[in-house]
Amino acid sequence: METKTKDVKKVTRVLYSKEQIAEAVKRVGAEITRDYAGKKPLFIGVLKGSFVFMADLIREVDLPCRTDFMSAKSYGEGTVSSGFVRIVKDIDEVVEGRDVIVVEDILDTANTLSNVCEILHSRNPASLKICTFLDKEVDRKILLTPDYFCFRVENEFVVGYGLDYAEKFRNLPYLGVLDDA
Ligand code: IMP
Ligand code: MG
Repeated sequence: METKTKDVKKVTRVLYSKEQIAEAVKRVGAEITRDYAGKKPLFIGVLKGSFVFMADLIREVDLPCRTDFMSAKSYGEGTVSSGFVRIVKDIDEVVEGRDVIVVEDILDTANTLSNVCEILHSRNPASLKICTFLDKEVDRKILLTPDYFCFRVENEFVVGYGLDYAEKFRNLPYLGVLDDA
């Protein structure tokens, strides 16, 4: 029987081009700039997937701001989330009294973000909002929606612009869909 490995996966379709992404990030940056006028938001990126989006986003926000990163891992491997999340790298910034914007690559089951937000909430921020590059159209058991997002995507596996499949494809400047081989 023929065996197919992760290494043969290829991007077969471009969902959003580099130019379309830049335009959407600019729009979200402008929304945040407007909504946080007079404030100094603290952007907290969830590693690793958010780093490309975060880098572009903060350059579209015309406000004094601070940035930090945390890393949360879902127990289990592969493309299905297990439901349990542990913080493997915490932030250094103080959250208390800050206007926090959590930045993620994609909201799928919302397991990761619901856990991360619960932890951040317990540190008494002045406000806490969620900004994701993508919002996946799934029936979520956890009722969580992003306050800001660039694109809504169907329930298929996407890569590029920071999003990976087995740690590959993060460096694609566009968002693509993999073949289902
Ligand atoms: P959630 O906890 O199910 O919301 O998923 C969170 C994480 O799963 C994201 O931060 C991604 O790292 C990963 N993920 C979910 N869907 C995709 C996808 O379509 N492509 C790449 N990574 C994904
Ligand atoms: Mg990932």
